[in-house]
Amino acid sequence: MLTDGFPRVDLTHRPTPLEPMPNLSAHLGGPKLWIKRDDCTGLAMGGNKVRQLEFYVGEALAEGADTLITTGAVQSNHVRLTIAAARKLGLSCEVQLEERVPGRSESYYRSGNAMLNRLMGAKIHRFPAGEDEAGAELAMQRIAEGVRSRGGRPHIISLAQDHRPTGSLGYVDAAEEMMQQAGQMSGSIDAVAVTSGSGSTHAGLLAGLRASGNSIPVFGFCARRDAQAQRTRVLERSAQVAAMIRHPDAIAPADVLTDDRFLKPGYGLLSEAVVEAMRLVAFHEGILLDPTYTGKAMAGLLAMIAEGCFSRTENVVFVHTGGTPALFAYPELTDPPDAAGIPAAA
Ligand SMILES: Cc1ncc(COP(=O)(O)O)c(C=O)c1O
Repeated sequence: MLTDGFPRVDLTHRPTPLEPMPNLSAHLGGPKLWIKRDDCTGLAMGGNKVRQLEFYVGEALAEGADTLITTGAVQSNHVRLTIAAARKLGLSCEVQLEERVPGRSESYYRSGNAMLNRLMGAKIHRFPAGEDEAGAELAMQRIAEGVRSRGGRPHIISLAQDHRPTGSLGYVDAAEEMMQQAGQMSGSIDAVAVTSGSGSTHAGLLAGLRASGNSIPVFGFCARRDAQAQRTRVLERSAQVAAMIRHPDAIAPADVLTDDRFLKPGYGLLSEAVVEAMRLVAFHEGILLDPTYTGKAMAGLLAMIAEGCFSRTENVVFVHTGGTPALFAYPELTDPPDAAGIPAAA
């Protein structure tokens, strides 16, 4: 495997299924749609961050750490899963929750991931400053100093751009796993669609595919930054990952595809198109998407299908990166239109 030799721990139920979505495909009359079920990675309600944490925590243990520290939004799946990984491995954990999403209801602060964090007994710090990646990083340093002053050995898991994209190695593995599964499909994979947040998943998939000689396009749908900023970020990240797995020239700038059409009204905020995409997949396949990441990516993929970007004979894989616990923090998803401006289900 391309990731052999990197320190890691085993946290993931794998391989995750690669399933067809026949009802949705028939309804849309476009390409054959498949779904890579990384919402089913096993640990504490699953999601993409489980694969990434295998490598982050592996690195932490190799350094002799006894306390994991990380940061994320109040409904961050990464935070929930970092706590779960710490609990599974008997490590301490301190997390920081950033007030990135304005105007949220009480459920946002009490339910979903916020509730699960408390259930797992994490020490929680608040970061009220809003969207400020550099500020949140500095605040984590202060949390680490506190741990050190009490005799602990902290390790900061940072998804910021100036840190090595260690977690992307989990998606180099996932790319290899998916290509092995594709060998059992009739036909080949013609395109992959995935959410692009910190860019770790997007960059890892891309590096894994290109390093194994595969030119399948990977469409990254933006969840936090506009398409240009995200493209720059993923290009840098994927080149770094490619170098880490000893394929430094695997990524060309044209490989990085980003689409921000459904980012609006902003990170963690709903739009009608996103709610509609979530409803469509739930109705036709009984598969639940999340409001912050996979709902936006599915809205983007549906738009591409409507524009005729794929033929009927092509196979398109949607990577379900999880995030479903956050559904419970967005009760307005099924509110009547006069309450939230979002239409009720037909
Ligand atoms: C459910 C879910 N999907 C996608 C992403 C984005 O993944 P990445 O940060 O690797 O780009 C996240 C990030 O937190 C997530 O929680």
